[in-house]
Amino acid sequence: MCTKSFKWGIMGCGNIAGQFATSLQSVSGAVLHAVSSRSEKKANSFGRKYNAIKSYDDYEMLVQDPEVDAVYIATPHNLHLENTMMCLKHKKAVLCEKPLTVNAIEAKKLIEQARKSETFLMEAVWTRFLPSTVKLNQLLNEGIIGTCRLVQADFGYNMPFDASHRSYNPDLAGGALLDVGIYPINFAQMIFRELPLEISSAFVPSITGVDEQSAYIFKYPSGSLAVMNSAVNVETQHNAWIYGSEGFVHMPDFFHATKIHIQGKDGKSDTISVPFESTGYGYEAIEVMNCINSGKIESTIMPLSESLEIMELMDTIRGQWGLKYPGE
Ligand SMILES: NC(=O)c1ccc[n+]([C@@H]2O[C@H](COP(=O)([O-])OP(=O)(O)OC[C@H]3O[C@@H](n4cnc5c(N)ncnc54)[C@H](OP(=O)(O)O)[C@@H]3O)[C@@H](O)[C@H]2O)c1
Repeated sequence: MCTKSFKWGIMGCGNIAGQFATSLQSVSGAVLHAVSSRSEKKANSFGRKYNAIKSYDDYEMLVQDPEVDAVYIATPHNLHLENTMMCLKHKKAVLCEKPLTVNAIEAKKLIEQARKSETFLMEAVWTRFLPSTVKLNQLLNEGIIGTCRLVQADFGYNMPFDASHRSYNPDLAGGALLDVGIYPINFAQMIFRELPLEISSAFVPSITGVDEQSAYIFKYPSGSLAVMNSAVNVETQHNAWIYGSEGFVHMPDFFHATKIHIQGKDGKSDTISVPFESTGYGYEAIEVMNCINSGKIESTIMPLSESLEIMELMDTIRGQWGLKYPGE
């Protein structure tokens, strides 16, 4: 529990920044201290809308504000390295939007810097902190479906084609894998907690060259499988299914889940309701606040070693397709 107010800063005043700022309003002890944008007008209007105390038209001014306890980075993928590095070099704690970086080489640089600066860093995989995920992990650890053998998960959304939009723009490291494929992959890794032995994948490139649809199958040393897909050009149902030796769990809309359906041992079925507050981003904010308030520089729930492993898996997948971003 937080005893004093925790002062957040937000870098980049776009779509997800607004959702995060909304969730912060229901987090006890959290204050939106400052926001920063490339544009003065945008910084001021975003700051007013979400009751920020200060608004900066320069990202560095946010980083140099001594009152900011942690910066939430909400810029496009290609900027995460530069923006996060600036914070870490100033010993400013960071919650960086997913993917932590564009590739594993970049992720290693940030992790090294976080350790050198002894400064908190976490990838904003908010789904790991949702009450539904916490409950799911508890149920699986209790053996409710026996040994997990198969995960199926999908995350596709339908963004009308626009070559300049971050979903499709290679300059902003767009494409389904890095944007949303990361969620089913992260989910499967959370469940199996081992690295896949084999990865098979397929992608459909958009005319900009990034994947507008992609699919991945992981085969694990324990004999389990994860079957996952993602898209930026088609809305899918966002289901997660976990099949075990003695039953299965179904989480509809697994990143906004309010229900967990279980068919466990002896065929008995049950549905558990779980809360989902505000826009859902408060739970990851609470983890950051708790870690920093207790002097930790890393979360054990979303550790940097796992962020790096998942970046490496995504590098392998992109390698299979020959998909490189500018500058790689
Ligand atoms: N956790 C989630 O559920 C979730 C959902 C959506 C997105 N995301 C992640 O959040 C990040 C941002 O996504 P978003 O949907 O919020 O994107 P967005 O609406 O385009 O906002 C990104 C912001 O980054 C800043 N920016 C700096 N340089 C930029 C450039 N060259 N081009 C475009 N914007 C630039 C802009 O803010 P200023 O103009 O104010 O500087 C812009 O508003 C990505 O990492 C994405 O994967 C996460």
